[in-house]
Amino acid sequence: MKDALDAILKPEQAAYLERIETPRDALLVEMEAWARAHRDPISDPEVASFLAVTARAARPRTIVELGTNIGYGAIVLARAAGPEARVVTIDDDATMVARARDFIARAGLADRIEVRHDDALRALAALSGPIDLAYLDCVKEHYPQYLDLVVPKLSPGGVIVADNVLWKGLVAQADVPSGELARVSALRAFNDAIVSRPDLRGVILPLGDGVAYAVKVA
Ligand SMILES: C[S@@+](CC[C@H](N)C(=O)[O-])C[C@H]1O[C@@H](n2cnc3c(N)ncnc32)[C@H](O)[C@@H]1O
Repeated sequence: MKDALDAILKPEQAAYLERIETPRDALLVEMEAWARAHRDPISDPEVASFLAVTARAARPRTIVELGTNIGYGAIVLARAAGPEARVVTIDDDATMVARARDFIARAGLADRIEVRHDDALRALAALSGPIDLAYLDCVKEHYPQYLDLVVPKLSPGGVIVADNVLWKGLVAQADVPSGELARVSALRAFNDAIVSRPDLRGVILPLGDGVAYAVKVA
């Protein structure tokens, strides 16, 4: 969300990046307006652009997204990955699942995006690989577990993108509010693993609310 972006960048930098964002089509603009009006935490447009560039470069055939919300990220990924790609996206909120299915049908992508109504950890554990691109955008406290479950299922050269890994800058702060400690501790452990696991090459990008990007190398 935009307030998270502004917590990391200086306001004038955030405003500049907003001015030069990649234009979106009418459906994505409508979804952004819907998310603003209903306070639904869809991916920031600049993170969506990063997902689109990543999907075009990696040409994944199998994409898994944890955290569907209204289907914004899933639509961006499916479009960018091309007609051979299939997306499985998971959300445990029935209202979100219904809303996402509606937007996905309107995007003409119901045959390539499957929205699963389930808990992300449970669904991920049950999924068989290989997964070519995983987008983690769900419960922050569970990011280390998502990583441990997803890496063995990734194809060689498979990609992980994870959103909100700087968590409004709190992961770098010494004094973390007690209500945020569990989330921040999990995100710190996740970020450490992204950059140091021997089976990954990863980087943390100060994009949006912080984006982790990693490739499976072994
Ligand atoms: C940040 S939003 C996802 C945004 C989406 N990835 C996008 O690109 O627009 C996170 C979603 O995770 C869902 N969620 C929260 N806890 C969950 C859980 N345990 N299992 C599955 N989904 C969950 C919420 O309902 C919410 O819709």
